[in-house]
Amino acid sequence: MAHSSMQTVAKEFPVETGVDRKDRRELAKMLTQIVGSSHVLYAKIRGVHWNVVGPAFYSLHKMTEEQYEDLNTAIDDMAERIRAIGFSAPTGLNDMMENSVISDQTELLATNDMVTDLIEDHEKMARLIRDGVTAAEEVEDVKTADLLTERIGVHEEAIWMLRATAS
Ligand SMILES: [Fe+2]
Repeated sequence: MAHSSMQTVAKEFPVETGVDRKDRRELAKMLTQIVGSSHVLYAKIRGVHWNVVGPAFYSLHKMTEEQYEDLNTAIDDMAERIRAIGFSAPTGLNDMMENSVISDQTELLATNDMVTDLIEDHEKMARLIRDGVTAAEEVEDVKTADLLTERIGVHEEAIWMLRATAS
């Protein structure tokens, strides 16, 4: 059929690499939460990048750019990991937001408050991802555990840099 390739959907496919289906399914859900949360955080960090004012303008403007660029890459890697373990990745913004532990920023805050919020969000991300590493290690999905372990360090470093700049 001429249209068959256009009509195919990212259905679940079999993955016989040593992690049971039910475990991969749970990991896919966990990764979807992390991807959704990362995406909301990505948007919030850009909001800070654009709206930051005051004496720390330049360093915060630059730092937030590094953070959202890193998140952009990480979101892609983690969403593609969902596919590699057999399941479908988020389809759009609503899907991201519904799966996010990070709440959207709907009002403009003072720079200090934006930075404080960002620190709390990075802390939330680190805790969420740490639970993800534990879940991945329990079922011996070493690749997912490895990918996520790296991310904990990135969020912890972001917290340190934001604190050091704000103080
Ligand atoms: Fe920019």
